[in-house]
Amino acid sequence: MTETIIHDVVIVGAGLAGSWAAMVASREGVKSIGVLSKVHPLRSHSGAAQGGIAAALSNVRPVEGTGPRGPLEQVPEGAEDPDSPDLHMFDTIKGSDWLGDQNAIDILVNDAIDIVYEYEHLGCVFSRTDDGRIAQRRFGGHSAPRANFAADWTGHVLLHTIHEQALRHGVKFYSEWYVMDLIIEEGITRGVIVMDILTGELHTVRAKAVMFATGGYGRAFKITSNATANTGDGVAIAYNAGVPLMDMEFVQFHPTGIYKHGILMSEACRGEGGYLTNAKGERFMENYAPDKMELAPRDLVSRSEQTEIDQGRGIGDDGMGIYLDMTHLGREKIMTRLPQVREIARDFLGVDIIDSPAPIQPTAHYSMGGIPTDVDGRVLANAEGDLMHGFFAAGECACVSVHGANRLGTNSLLEASVFGRRAGYALAEFINSGAELYPITSNPCQKQQDRIEKLIDKSSVNGNAENVAHIGEELKANMTDNCGIFRDGERLEIAKQTVRDLQERFKNARVMDTSRRFNTDVLAGLETEHLLQFSEVIVEGALARTESRGAHSRTDYVKRDDDNWLRHTVAHKTSDGRPTLSYREVDIDWEKYPPQERKY
Ligand code: FUM
Repeated sequence: MTETIIHDVVIVGAGLAGSWAAMVASREGVKSIGVLSKVHPLRSHSGAAQGGIAAALSNVRPVEGTGPRGPLEQVPEGAEDPDSPDLHMFDTIKGSDWLGDQNAIDILVNDAIDIVYEYEHLGCVFSRTDDGRIAQRRFGGHSAPRANFAADWTGHVLLHTIHEQALRHGVKFYSEWYVMDLIIEEGITRGVIVMDILTGELHTVRAKAVMFATGGYGRAFKITSNATANTGDGVAIAYNAGVPLMDMEFVQFHPTGIYKHGILMSEACRGEGGYLTNAKGERFMENYAPDKMELAPRDLVSRSEQTEIDQGRGIGDDGMGIYLDMTHLGREKIMTRLPQVREIARDFLGVDIIDSPAPIQPTAHYSMGGIPTDVDGRVLANAEGDLMHGFFAAGECACVSVHGANRLGTNSLLEASVFGRRAGYALAEFINSGAELYPITSNPCQKQQDRIEKLIDKSSVNGNAENVAHIGEELKANMTDNCGIFRDGERLEIAKQTVRDLQERFKNARVMDTSRRFNTDVLAGLETEHLLQFSEVIVEGALARTESRGAHSRTDYVKRDDDNWLRHTVAHKTSDGRPTLSYREVDIDWEKYPPQERKY
């Protein structure tokens, strides 16, 4: 039976951003907060982040004279700090290829230290230095060792810490509830339509404020480190409801996904000293980034790997792999610092990284683009920066934008935490200053029920149904082949046409399982529709952006073009269902951090 549920605030997504926002808003006096999660909250994808959370704590430093990959030591009492928020800021701006908004990055790096200590005070079990400080390691693109970690389970322990705190503060979690629609009437956000996956029933959840913390969209690609749940539902639903999407063309490929699977092998493997080698046994990063080697920013390392693969120096039966070699690190380091990675490699590759190199390949990992917000998680309605009423977003589904064109590793756990926490305060301020619960005058539940009935009803296609799974697979292959690590106009045109064809074919797509309860076939159908909707925005943005910047690398426009493209892409859905693009200025401190030429 369809129910109407009412909360002051409803948050969609129980990862770090959603759980921080819920916990803080509750702490600040908001009485009724519901968090809807497509999976069990502790299976949210924040928990899959392995290597660390960035903050310039200055607990460790490189041993003098040992170079950028030499050993680290604890910083002695009274010694000068080797790191600072300023240095973190510069690295993040440079890593973003100058597309990151510097007002937001300033907040990110300055709140970083405080939020890591808040985690510590809430009971988070970080790894430790010998004298008991939070342990730190190196990560790509960071000029100091500032990845604070808990072995290679960092996201997992952060998520458990915040989840239990949110429970302690009385937040209500709805596990395995799938959001299908965002209700905005007359510019006012009024709630969401959700399916309880167990029963298949739809419910209307009304609220004075809605927040999306629905995670990324890596599942639009064939090889991805993203969990099966990361189908960009929130991004697509917001777009369909008239909310713009920003910088969607920037998709990050992590250099070390498990060969043929894409599952993450943490950058911590290289932070701890692992090498990348090609089929000839060469440490090829010497040819691409001789100073930073394997710890160059991710976009660069992934492109270097792909170049080796494209030029015939890849490994494996299809030549699509590269070796990640950690055999020189020794059993003890691997068992204390990379135990999860070892387990994953054993389970999925049958390789023990203690004595064999692991086959890996670049994997779609992180969505820099998403729902545009201000620094307090308030969603922007347009390129001019007007605010939506009662709609908030944070974490990977949002674009605040601290990562610009390319994110540095460990800045994502940080971003989700910092901007989730800020959104919590903003939600509390919104509710406590007298926000109203507006009525819903349309019948949005019926529209969503019709989507489900159509997927189940085969009679309307007279035996000529399209298979949802096939459409999904074709889309992922198209996005990987034609809108992947390297792009060009010709392939992007193919990508665009293919997405449009698949959207047409989806109109006749039907599912095999017609039952009502826990119907994962229907779920996959709804997810595939979302993938098709936002993939068109990725491709259109990539086609329009005739330059190379960060993770967007065009072989027909190889240079970064600040004169024409130092701006954010803002996409709106038009009445014919197609995206239209406009552009927004990047926030830059021209005195302090003006764009510099790329070294590599
Ligand atoms: O490689 C990793 O451990 C992933 C971290 C990140 O994406 O921030």
